[in-house]
Amino acid sequence: MNQSIAVVGGGSIGIAWSIVFARAKRPVMLYEPDDARRELAQDDVMRRLRALAAHDLLDESPGDVVARIEPVGNLSAAARGVSYVQECAPENLDLKRSLFQELEEIAAPDAVLASSSSAIPPSLLATAVRDPSRVLVAHPGNPPYLLPVVELVPSPETVATTLDRAHALLESVGMSPVRLHKEVEGFVFNRLQGAVLREAYCLVRDGVVDPRDVDKVMRDGLGRRWAFLGPFETVELNTEGGVDAHATRMGPAYARMGAERGQHDPWTEAMVAQVSEAVQSRFPRDRWRDHVLWRDSVLMALEAFYRRTPLLSGPAAAEPADGGGASTSGENDPGAARDVGAARTAGAANATKKRAGNVAETGDR
Ligand SMILES: NC(=O)c1ccc[n+]([C@@H]2O[C@H](COP(=O)([O-])OP(=O)(O)OC[C@H]3O[C@@H](n4cnc5c(N)ncnc54)[C@H](O)[C@@H]3O)[C@@H](O)[C@H]2O)c1
Repeated sequence: MNQSIAVVGGGSIGIAWSIVFARAKRPVMLYEPDDARRELAQDDVMRRLRALAAHDLLDESPGDVVARIEPVGNLSAAARGVSYVQECAPENLDLKRSLFQELEEIAAPDAVLASSSSAIPPSLLATAVRDPSRVLVAHPGNPPYLLPVVELVPSPETVATTLDRAHALLESVGMSPVRLHKEVEGFVFNRLQGAVLREAYCLVRDGVVDPRDVDKVMRDGLGRRWAFLGPFETVELNTEGGVDAHATRMGPAYARMGAERGQHDPWTEAMVAQVSEAVQSRFPRDRWRDHVLWRDSVLMALEAFYRRTPLLSGPAAAEPADGGGASTSGENDPGAARDVGAARTAGAANATKKRAGNVAETGDR
C-alpha cells in the first residue's frame, strides 16, 4: 500500500496542506503542472516552515519536514496507488471534474478523493466519477497548518466509511474535522462568516457605525471570546441559566433584529433544547460558575498575551522577518508596530477593567 498523501495543485492551499501532512510525518506527493510554480514549491514550503520554527511550532528541522514533500509534474506519479487525495486545483468546476475522473483511475480503488473547494458542492464532483461513494469536500481554512478546522462535506452519494476515513486521517495529522450532515452552499465556515458580514455591511450602509469600528467591535469584543468559545458556548456562559435562559430573554430581540433584515427564523423550543443539550455536554450547567471563572481566566491569559505581543497590532507589520510565506498572515514582528500596539493594549486594558466582575448580566456581551 502506498502510504503517501497525494496533494493535487501546488498553489497557496496545496502548499499549506503539504505542510500539514509532512509536519505529521506523512510522505507527500505534490502534483503541480506549472513548471515555474513547481520549481518554487520547496522554497515556498521552506519559507513557511522557517516561520513556523521561529514561533516554536515545529518539533524538527524545516529541512526534515520539507524532505518528505516531493513535487512532481505528472498526476500519475503523484497519485498512483495512494489511499488519500487532497485536491487543491483552481476553483473551476470543469477542471476539478476532469481531475476527479483521472484520479479515480490512478489512486487506489478505495482511495478517499477529497476536494479543498471553498464553494463547489461535492455532488457536482460526484457525478463526474463512476464511484461517487468515496468523493467529498474537505474544506480547510487558510492556511490549514494554522487554522485546524476542516469541514467534511458529503454528497448524497458519499458513504459513511469515506467520512470516517477522512476524519481519522485528518485528525491524525492534527486537524480538527467537522462533519456536515449534508451539502449546503458556503458550507458552515462561510455561512457563519457571511451572517456576520451581511449584518456588518447593513450597519455601515445605514450609517450606524464606521467600518473601522465594526472591526474594532469584533477584534476587541466578540472575537476575544470567539477565539476559544463557539457562539452557543458564549451565550451559555454569559447568562445564568445558560442557552435556555438566554433564548427566553433575548430571543424576541434577536427575532426583531432578524425581521428588520427580512429574516424570519425564530428559535423554537425544540431548537433551543437541542442546542442546550449539546452545549451542556461540554459545560454541565451545575458547574456554571466554575465555567464562567474558567472563561475569565482564559480571557486574562489572552489579555496578557496581547499586551506582550506587539505583533498583534497589525498592518504596520510589512517587512518579512524570516521570509514567512504570507505577509498577510501577520507572521512578522517589526518594531514599527510597537507604539500602536502599546496604545491599543492600554485602551483594551481600560475596557477590560470596566468589564471586570460583571459575569452574570442578562444581556448579550
Ligand atoms: N485560498 C484560500 O483562501 C482557500 C481556502 C480554502 C479552500 N480553497 C480552495 O482550495 C483550492 C485551491 O485554491 P488556491 O488558493 O490554492 O488556488 P491557487 O490558484 O493559489 O492554486 C491552484 C494551483 O493549482 C495549479 N493547477 C492548475 N491547473 C491544475 C490542474 N489541472 N491540476 C492540478 N493543479 C492545477 C495551479 O498551477 C496552481 O498552482 C480551490 O478550490 C479553493 O477554493 C482556497
